Amino acid sequence: MEISHVTVIGGGQMGSGIAQVAAQSGYNVSLVEVNESLLEKAKANIKLSAERLAKKQFKEDASKVDEFVSTVISRISGTTDIHTALSKTDIVIEAIVENVDAKKKLFSSLDKIAQPKTIFASNTSSIPISEIAKSTNRLDRFLGLHFFNPVPMMKLLEVIRIPETSDETYETCMKFGTKLGKTCVTCKDTLGFIVNRLLGAYTTEAVRMLERDDAKAKDIDIAMKLGASYPMGPFELLDYIGLDTTQSVRETFARYDPQNPLYEPSPTIDKLVKEGKLGVKTGEDYTKSENIANTNNL
Ligand code: 3HC
Repeated sequence: MEISHVTVIGGGQMGSGIAQVAAQSGYNVSLVEVNESLLEKAKANIKLSAERLAKKQFKEDASKVDEFVSTVISRISGTTDIHTALSKTDIVIEAIVENVDAKKKLFSSLDKIAQPKTIFASNTSSIPISEIAKSTNRLDRFLGLHFFNPVPMMKLLEVIRIPETSDETYETCMKFGTKLGKTCVTCKDTLGFIVNRLLGAYTTEAVRMLERDDAKAKDIDIAMKLGASYPMGPFELLDYIGLDTTQSVRETFARYDPQNPLYEPSPTIDKLVKEGKLGVKTGEDYTKSENIANTNNL
């Protein structure tokens, strides 16, 4: 099966990045959001990101920058009407809020209106794909496609098969991922797949180091950048991913693996989220700031 039209549901950081990368790779894309203002925000973010990429690629030629950006934008049609988006699509990639009930409700309604051939994929960070897939009657055309933030820059795509995913669906999506310019890795539907399972353990222990006052956040960040060549330290990464996302990923992991001490609540993250301090998306670098370096008083 060939994919020619892609529908992305959810225009947040991940969904807009996925729509952008698909458009850059030549696909026609429908980007679905719940209202016009969120659609406008998503399109503005896509434009900025495409400009950033094009300015690097076509340093000497401003007209090519404009051409690249307008081609990308012209391939994406933003809509709040899910029926129109689904009428001709080959694959739906869901990138909505990280909530199992919301995802199941969405896929169950999509299943009734999408064409039988349409492949369903979830970009969930932490929810088992099988759990979401069982809200549909197309388990053979269901899988996880897990992208990384920022989607236009990160080269990896995790392709997650459930036992029922057909070979045809899997192979179509591996080819699709490669056409998006990603290196695809395959993994089973295990908690956190590969990257988030390992990153969760790493960032959790970094926060615990801070809570024990072993070192300051900025020193831990510098240590991991210079001592392990990570592009971002753990606190920079937490701020970048968003503390609300980090909290909801931990809660999901705890639900599916309740005995695992790794997934116990984090006083630091919970306090910051309660205060609405979510990291870069709310304009702050809270996990890096000195005033939470000693959290004994939390
Ligand atoms: N769109 C287009 N270009 C972008 C971009 C975007 N959204 N974000 C960054 N860039 C480009 C910049 O233009 C810049 O290009 P240049 O080097 O050619 O000038 C280049 O990326 C580097 O950007 P910066 O100089 O601003 O900063 P960095 O060198 O720190 O790179 C980074 C930014 C690519 C984000 C890098 O820090 C990095 O790789 N960080 C780690 C990110 C990571 O671990 N992501 C995974 C998170 S886990 C996840 O997503 C899973 C989910 O389920 C939660």
